[in-house]
Amino acid sequence: MDNNMGVEGLRLLITGASAGIGEGTARLAAQRGASVLLADLNDEQGERLAEDINAAGGTAVYQHCDVSNEDDLEAVMEVAKSRFGGLDVLHNNAGIHESALSDKLTLDTMSRDVFEKIISVNLTGAWLCAKYALPLLRESDNASIINAGSTSSFTGYPQCLAYGASKGGIMQLTKMLAVDLAPDGIRVNCYCPGSIHTQMVDNFLKAAPDPKAMLNTMTMTHLVPRMGQPVDVAELVCFLASPESSFVNGAVWAIDGGSLAWRGTLDILGMEPQA
Ligand SMILES: NC(=O)c1ccc[n+]([C@@H]2O[C@H](COP(=O)([O-])OP(=O)(O)OC[C@H]3O[C@@H](n4cnc5c(N)ncnc54)[C@H](O)[C@@H]3O)[C@@H](O)[C@H]2O)c1
Repeated sequence: MDNNMGVEGLRLLITGASAGIGEGTARLAAQRGASVLLADLNDEQGERLAEDINAAGGTAVYQHCDVSNEDDLEAVMEVAKSRFGGLDVLHNNAGIHESALSDKLTLDTMSRDVFEKIISVNLTGAWLCAKYALPLLRESDNASIINAGSTSSFTGYPQCLAYGASKGGIMQLTKMLAVDLAPDGIRVNCYCPGSIHTQMVDNFLKAAPDPKAMLNTMTMTHLVPRMGQPVDVAELVCFLASPESSFVNGAVWAIDGGSLAWRGTLDILGMEPQA
């Protein structure tokens, strides 16, 4: 096993673990010796992932969970106790984008239900997970919460009204929780990915009026001229989870190929995005 990043022996709860960045993090952390509790709505994919990880010699348990449902969260924490004896790291990764729910994405067309659903999963869900995980995190001597922000925590995008509002909120929730939980020795950090190739991005592109133009908008700002991959983010999550990052707290960490570092697109530099 490769133990470079120091997650060996840690117990991670990863929400939204069945696909994308959550799946990538589960695979990498398990490879490095962490026990991973996979929580998601997609039971089929989640069960399969747990089987895969266990077959490869890792330790994974899948548990159905909607992060906005308190009964589900209670059940997940029971599983963390019974199967892993507790929890060290909460990876608040579950998230949805409004384009998965509706094609009415402008202020005049979006329904209140859609707006509130996004906030309830992406923002309230993360807050609830932290609340339910707290008693277990308090028992850990390497406790942290790692929240999924976005470049839309900082900047505007078309067709991202609810999503962007939720991600701005997550960035601030991170700082408030870092303060609140400092006396408990629980660190709280947030990472903000650029465009990472997952089903969320594929669906978002499909819903765009001009998918090619939207893809350009998303990748032409990456100074590293490609889409990110889930493993790129997983590497950062493993670092933030590990004791090596013990002095990192309340941080908002861009993992965006450099897109927040400037105001331009690659063509100005005579560059093009690579596949
Ligand atoms: N992919 C990107 O480019 C990107 C960029 C910035 C931020 N993010 C954030 O990273 C996180 C993961 O994104 P992704 O691209 O891997 O998404 P994804 O759609 O590929 O996977 C998300 C997973 O979350 C699960 N999920 C959805 N609602 C849930 C709920 N209520 N409870 C539990 N699980 C739920 C889904 O079933 C799915 O398995 C999200 O918070 C997203 O906002 C992604």
